[in-house]
Amino acid sequence: MLKARQCVREMREYHSPLSSPTTELRLDMNESTTGCSPRVLAKLNSMNERTLAQYPRREAGEKLVADFLDVAPQQLLLTNGADEAIDLLCRAYLEPQDEIVIVVPTFAMYDVFSQMEHAKAVRVPTGPDFSFPLERVLKALTAKTRIVVICNPNNPTGIDVPRSAIMQIIQAAPDAAILLDEAYFDFYGQTMIDQIGKLPNLFVARTFSKAYGLAGLRLGVMVGDVEQMSVLRRMASPFNVNAFAIECLAEALADRQFVADYVAQVIASREWLRKELEKLGFKCWPSHGNFILCRFGDEKKNILDALRARGISLRDRPDCEGCVRITIGKQQEMERLMAELKQVLSQLPANQATR
Ligand SMILES: Cc1ncc(COP(=O)(O)O)c(C=O)c1O
Repeated sequence: MLKARQCVREMREYHSPLSSPTTELRLDMNESTTGCSPRVLAKLNSMNERTLAQYPRREAGEKLVADFLDVAPQQLLLTNGADEAIDLLCRAYLEPQDEIVIVVPTFAMYDVFSQMEHAKAVRVPTGPDFSFPLERVLKALTAKTRIVVICNPNNPTGIDVPRSAIMQIIQAAPDAAILLDEAYFDFYGQTMIDQIGKLPNLFVARTFSKAYGLAGLRLGVMVGDVEQMSVLRRMASPFNVNAFAIECLAEALADRQFVADYVAQVIASREWLRKELEKLGFKCWPSHGNFILCRFGDEKKNILDALRARGISLRDRPDCEGCVRITIGKQQEMERLMAELKQVLSQLPANQATR
């Protein structure tokens, strides 16, 4: 009988929340509820049959993004979402039984892609209040460590990692690839891209799925040392990024005001929502992303189900006890969420909500 590789057979299937019926207000995927720049939309609408008939020219897009990030085109690779960038990194550096250090709770795909290589995931728990456990990460490094993942700010906690901690890890693991996932950079504003070209084991991943509102286009970037990027480039399909994404890049990058306005709105709504949730007695963690982690406690499932019945989905995070992750939308969407949540809470049996 035909059998897939053992590591694949042992994997659990990853079910995105999108595989269940979707709701009117989706606050469970960290997508933008605003959408993309109108300039991008106009570009998409102007595309013709010729663009679709031809293979996409990734190099043209790479030049644009390189200029935007102030790196050389040879220092980056455009990918089919940041997901593909992470996958390529795992495939390039992990032999079976090699170790990848992952601070948990975090984004699920690091686990998925490293399992595919039959690597050993060394899961390091975060510190108090989900703080970055620098000492524990340093202790977890061994001669077999090939990748260390740092998600900054971290999904789902929103907590950031101090630059000095990242530097210490890079220096302590010169033979490992340090994957710095900056998917939520635009909401945070701090980056290590300035160190590309100086630190040969640093890789920075970015995405257009969040602040640019282009999750459906599937466009990500990996930035790193020229030599290492040539390794990843060898592995990627030359046509990994689709023509729509490449064609829209110039407009997406040029409309800086759109991204700046969206980010400012998200930050204001996020802080408003946090205060409102705290007024209800729910613990929230300070977030640097377009989402917030909130502890609903023992009533979490009932609250999630009741909100879903009212057309709002939040993301359950069973890996953070009693918690849900809430994507930040427009102010009026956050107000709707709070109004619905208050109604849901008022219908819960009294005294049961432990906060
Ligand atoms: C931390 C992190 N990295 C990477 C990704 C994947 O992004 P993309 O849509 O570009 O594949 C996500 C998406 O939610 C994320 O949260």
